[in-house]
Amino acid sequence: MRIYKASDYHDMSRKAANIISAQVIMKADCVLGLATGSTPIGIYKQLIEWYRKGDLDFGEVKTVNLDEYKGLSPNNVQSYHYFMKTNLFEHINIPMDNTYLPNGLEENVEFECQRFNGIIDMLGGIDMQLLGLGHNGHIGFNEPDEAFEKGTHCVALTQSTIEANSRLFAKDEIIPKYAYTMGIRSIMLAKKILLVVSGIDKADILKDALTGPVTPAVPASILQMHNDLTLVADEAALSKININELTK
Ligand code: F6R
Repeated sequence: MRIYKASDYHDMSRKAANIISAQVIMKADCVLGLATGSTPIGIYKQLIEWYRKGDLDFGEVKTVNLDEYKGLSPNNVQSYHYFMKTNLFEHINIPMDNTYLPNGLEENVEFECQRFNGIIDMLGGIDMQLLGLGHNGHIGFNEPDEAFEKGTHCVALTQSTIEANSRLFAKDEIIPKYAYTMGIRSIMLAKKILLVVSGIDKADILKDALTGPVTPAVPASILQMHNDLTLVADEAALSKININELTK
């Protein structure tokens, strides 16, 4: 595991964006696994800036996102489709046909999970998967459970995730209770994983994930088993971890 310590959120965003840029430069037609949430917003802003300066070209890049709320249309402002469009895709030269997310409107769960697994296979797997970390240790929407779910599946979000997400919804909006998510197997099959974590509120769960037992009760703990994991985290998030011990 490689760990890059950033001074703050801004520094974390720049360092992580540098790593993604290197991937895009080294393999112009790479497959990037992308995440939504608050953590990657600064990374996407930085990538947009470098694209505008002419330093990055996304013309051949393909992207596949971790998750989408079940029941939300791509035009719903709370959907992850909308998030990706407004925070990244519409500001860079990626062809929209090269971007893939689960279809939140598909009622047939089995059909959608197979379709999305098929897309990841069709793309030849993921070159670099960007991951945020949930307060309960979730990655994508793989919530704490008794077993790791392998492929794409539909999950009932935990109360803590629903509460964490509620900050993004207006009072009268219905907060989705289910989501489609890429499974642990697909995430672990990514050639490289880039985990980004910021803030003191994530310090305990980051410590559990990286130094505790590998258990589906802390889904991110499985990342300890990946052979090309890079963590970029700020000082606050790393404050409970002894980096020297971990990288020994
Ligand atoms: C989003 C996702 C989630 C988030 C996690 C952290 O696509 O997969 O696992 O990465 O909930 O969210 P933030 O970054 O908002 O703290």
